[in-house]
Amino acid sequence: MRIAVVGATGMVGEVMLKVLAERNFPVTELIPVASERSVGKEIEYNGKKYKVVSMQTAVDMKADIALFSAGGDTSLEWAPKFAAAGTTVIDNSSAWRMDPTKKLIVPEINAAELTAADKIIANPNCSTIQMVLVLAPLHKKYNIKRVIVSTYQSITGTGVKAVQQLENEYAGVQGEMAYKYPIHRNAIPQCDSFEENGYTKEEMKLVRETKKILSDNTIAVTATAVRVPIVGGHSEAVNVEFSNDFDVNEVRNILHHTDGVVVQDNNDTFTYPMPMYAQGKDEVFVGRIRRDESQENTLNMWIVADNLRKGAATNTIQIAEYLIAAKLV
Ligand SMILES: NC(=O)c1ccc[n+]([C@@H]2O[C@H](COP(=O)([O-])OP(=O)(O)OC[C@H]3O[C@@H](n4cnc5c(N)ncnc54)[C@H](OP(=O)(O)O)[C@@H]3O)[C@@H](O)[C@H]2O)c1
Repeated sequence: MRIAVVGATGMVGEVMLKVLAERNFPVTELIPVASERSVGKEIEYNGKKYKVVSMQTAVDMKADIALFSAGGDTSLEWAPKFAAAGTTVIDNSSAWRMDPTKKLIVPEINAAELTAADKIIANPNCSTIQMVLVLAPLHKKYNIKRVIVSTYQSITGTGVKAVQQLENEYAGVQGEMAYKYPIHRNAIPQCDSFEENGYTKEEMKLVRETKKILSDNTIAVTATAVRVPIVGGHSEAVNVEFSNDFDVNEVRNILHHTDGVVVQDNNDTFTYPMPMYAQGKDEVFVGRIRRDESQENTLNMWIVADNLRKGAATNTIQIAEYLIAAKLV
């Protein structure tokens, strides 16, 4: 497979390279791509150095698969050009996710929807992926009516600029701000920009993408997304109301047998997921599983994952692996 990594110099791109190597992805030629600013810059993959090329050069090289993580505008402009050259694009930005002609894929849930005709495939938002991976088997069993989610999101979700801002603030030096406010010792109740309805784009991604991935528009979702000075991953307090009643132990058991999910839930040993320990891992961790005693058929959970891995790079590469295994590329 000739693989282009578009956005190879960015936060997600770097992890993408790491995950490709770790999973022994069958790369015969690696094509690292970034903006004009980075053309000629060297990046390392599997112990070898590669020079970053421009978008047009990469289109002309007609890779088999292009893994995009270079922002929505770049994707809107360039993904169709790659697709027209015969390259299958798997895109991490929000550009194509809600396009009804594009599939929005979490492999464990809906990879079977993919066909060889899908030339631009959307990777969901990081906070959505970790939530739906846990919700999908529970929806099947108990039918979800409503989800209330509050997120505690890592600064790595905002890219390299945000990590630099936090480092500057730790060191007490002035620098470029990724956020409108300091993030060190703070919690910012705004992830991404605001929409007309008063919610942020991140909050509405959780609402819209959940319905699309679970193929069920009747699921009601409401979200509050908060940025916190954490690097390891995103955490989510998730309250789920089902149509049918459940047994908490049965819920644990279902999640225990769900691909990609790890249950960490034992109050006696103070076992629950935390971003510090999720960092660098591909799984989604779930704990604090308990009945919401204020309402019937309702469950509370705490879900944590590394947003750069399962929330971005790993999910993208799993989609690519599926395409290869199903002979769709
Ligand atoms: N961070 C996350 O947790 C996460 C999760 C899911 C999805 N995403 C999505 O992934 C994308 C990248 O996020 P990130 O966190 O990796 O951001 P980042 O660290 O800021 O990296 C951005 C990358 O895009 C490249 N780029 C920017 N403008 C470009 C252009 N005009 N043409 C070609 N390449 C261009 C940059 O290249 P230069 O170095 O040359 O500027 C860099 O490689 C975004 O769409 C984001 O929404 C991020």
